[in-house]
Amino acid sequence: MLFDRIEAAPLDPVLVSIEQFAADPRAQKVNLGVGMYYDAAGRIPLMAAVRQAESRVQARLANWGYGMSEGLAPLRTGAAELVFGADAPAIADGRVATIQSLGGTGALRLGAELLARLAPGAQVALSTPSWANHPSIFAAAGLPLVSYPYYDRATGGLDWPGMRGAIAALPAGSIVVLHACCHNPTGVDLDQAQWLALRDLMVDKALIPFLDLAYQGFADGLEADALAPRLFAATDLPLFVATSFSKSFALYGERVGALLVVTRSPDEAANLIGQCKNSIRNMYSTPPTHGAALVGEILGDPALRALWASELETMRQRIHGVRAALYERLAGIGNDTDLSFIVRQKGLFSYTGLSPAQMIALREAHAIHAVADGRICVAALNEGNVDRVAAAIRAVVGAGAFG
Ligand SMILES: Cc1ncc(COP(=O)(O)O)c(C=O)c1O
Repeated sequence: MLFDRIEAAPLDPVLVSIEQFAADPRAQKVNLGVGMYYDAAGRIPLMAAVRQAESRVQARLANWGYGMSEGLAPLRTGAAELVFGADAPAIADGRVATIQSLGGTGALRLGAELLARLAPGAQVALSTPSWANHPSIFAAAGLPLVSYPYYDRATGGLDWPGMRGAIAALPAGSIVVLHACCHNPTGVDLDQAQWLALRDLMVDKALIPFLDLAYQGFADGLEADALAPRLFAATDLPLFVATSFSKSFALYGERVGALLVVTRSPDEAANLIGQCKNSIRNMYSTPPTHGAALVGEILGDPALRALWASELETMRQRIHGVRAALYERLAGIGNDTDLSFIVRQKGLFSYTGLSPAQMIALREAHAIHAVADGRICVAALNEGNVDRVAAAIRAVVGAGAFG
């Protein structure tokens, strides 16, 4: 019988954490496992710009017919301008191929599919650690995986010499997946000098950058967070960028993102879009239109865009605030471990250095849920829960150390 052969599939740790949280009956439970931004009241926001875009789109709605395989034009134009800047030479020259995707995940998967076709057998280098979904996305396209060092446990910062050395040793034509900002899970980013040096190294070694930009606007601001794509777009390297609007527009369930590929000519860009359309046609035919219409509306209207950008800035600042609050409340913990990385790390996550056993104790004894690797979603902290979270971390660390 066909189904006798079905084995239980290994579950993604984040999904396990979500299930454990849902099943926890304790009223004071806190979910620091999942990567979503929550506001000061602990809710996933519905942004005012999104509400306004929704009413405009609804007011002129004629129907929800199929869109094009490559996606809605306003979304595609808006995405390219957001990532590369409205006056980017690559956009003016018509060299950017932009394809609407099913969130950032879909952009990564579509890009991987394309690379498997254009560069079969090319290896894909991922940071250690990386977003848990990266390996399976690239492996699913049949691309071999290698890794490069990234996180330095001793400092809670970047292992820059290790990273640079490993990337320098990759064979020409390898694909290097880089988190453009707000590295998931560590929150550790390259600084400007490191990005410049890495870009020059990759030009020198003819390596292909694939930037994952899932958190534009959450690290240092909308423009500052686009540094890496803009630096690479100014080179002759082929460039892949997977961008997501899940977090920056709080449109998680709408599945909106884009794959952007910088080519050498408008003809190459057109051919690349054609290849993507073929892949899309046999996977899901056309992307969903609703969320993309909202993002396109916002990015195409200066007043709405300004409102959205200011809301996003408020979200970014709130994360900085809760990072500082957590850091303050943990002062002196763990034999005076230096925890300043909590305020230095960027984005939704902090890699706390707490051990798997300490993370399990947080869940079992204190109803604080997160994944065992010590990553916590700081964007789920607020004035109402930060004291309790800090007290629980103090309790599980006790007189011992982090990790
Ligand atoms: C690093 C990274 N890339 C991509 C994604 C995918 O985002 P989306 O939900 O838009 O597919 C995420 C989401 O958590 C992420 O953390």
